[in-house]
Amino acid sequence: MEDSKRKDAIAQFYLKYGFATRCLHAGEKIAQPKSKAHTNAIFQTSTFTFDNAEEGADLFAQRREGFVYTRMGNPTVVVAEAKLNALEGREVKLADPDNVRITSLLFSSGMGATSSLAYALLQPGDVLLRGRVLYGSSDHFFVNVLPTFNIKQVIVDTEDPRETEKAIKKYPKAKLLFFETPTNPLLDLTDIAETCRIVKQHSPDCMICVDNTFATPYLQNPLSLGADIVMHSTTKYLSGHGTIVGGALITKHDWIKDALYKVMKDHGPCPSPFDCWLLNLGMKTLPIRMEKHCANAMAVAKFLETHPKVAKVYFPGLPSHPAHELAKKQMRGFGGMVAFDIKGGYESAQKLMNHCHVISLAVSLGCVDSLIQHPASMTHSAMTPEARAAAGIGDGLIRLSVGIEDEDDLIKDLDHALKSC
Ligand SMILES: Cc1ncc(COP(=O)(O)O)c(C=O)c1O
Repeated sequence: MEDSKRKDAIAQFYLKYGFATRCLHAGEKIAQPKSKAHTNAIFQTSTFTFDNAEEGADLFAQRREGFVYTRMGNPTVVVAEAKLNALEGREVKLADPDNVRITSLLFSSGMGATSSLAYALLQPGDVLLRGRVLYGSSDHFFVNVLPTFNIKQVIVDTEDPRETEKAIKKYPKAKLLFFETPTNPLLDLTDIAETCRIVKQHSPDCMICVDNTFATPYLQNPLSLGADIVMHSTTKYLSGHGTIVGGALITKHDWIKDALYKVMKDHGPCPSPFDCWLLNLGMKTLPIRMEKHCANAMAVAKFLETHPKVAKVYFPGLPSHPAHELAKKQMRGFGGMVAFDIKGGYESAQKLMNHCHVISLAVSLGCVDSLIQHPASMTHSAMTPEARAAAGIGDGLIRLSVGIEDEDDLIKDLDHALKSC
């Protein structure tokens, strides 16, 4: 069992501080070793000793708090969970007079978090509403795995609130709405506040989960806009250095946290303490990294938009993006992800990727260094060609995770690679 009350109390305490201060300090004191080391220790242990048999029995019966076994909680994991609590909890406390308690759980991967949420909230016969465009494996899980448990998934074009209203009216008993904003890979946006308002008006019991991986809590806090749960692949911006695979769920409902904790115990998608230590370290520099990611992505998007070999650029920071006004309202910056259609389809896309020198050819995103990939043959290859076409993922689509290198070097690298197309 984890030290949950203390963790939540510390997260709440830090809500009154600014974002950068929370990134650095929230959670840090939870597991400070007796050595008084300035940096947190890594409790790389699978199990914890009991002072006596009575203590062991009490811990198992949850009569007292403490750590038992790392699948059920670990101090290094709790430090990172408390920090994430304090980051996603921004303004929720102020917005809710009843002083909402925000709780978080870390997982071994983003997919571990998404599938655990489904196992925690859905039962045979239930309906899940999900956004039109999702990360490929999330899409694959909803389309191919959940139906084997007799759970129906319904695709909703959440970018259009009228479509969400139609869907929730048709499926008022839907248990969960899950969407990404911005989406992977097309950077479409959903109006979180409006979507939550519509869904809750027709179906207060339908839980709403926003995959906030692309935006990070630095740019957007779905819980403060009405969502019930926030999901992250911590593999990405939160850890920031491409060193771990991890996931997170943060919720304002204790019953959801309890249901997730049961899934954690039964299914076992727990993160390793070392990965959580790296995640905690990464989150400390999130604000300065995100500022540079956003600035570089804006420069790259502007460069690509005027390039003759580029047919279309997808970046919410460009006035040409259909949801630019929503991005200005909903996000505190436009993020570090840029997608674009290259003229000449897959052949040109291959040439471009093979001629980048500074930008690495790799999937994943949110690393300090830039990554380029081709969704149709890589991250979204598990979708059928028809589903990809319906989602707007063409053979000439390239996704760029813009890193924090010098802006000029990135533009020169792309310029050079585009000459080969
Ligand atoms: C938006 C989004 N959500 C979820 C995931 C899944 O996360 P993970 O790879 O950590 O399992 C990814 C991975 O790329 C993603 O981009």
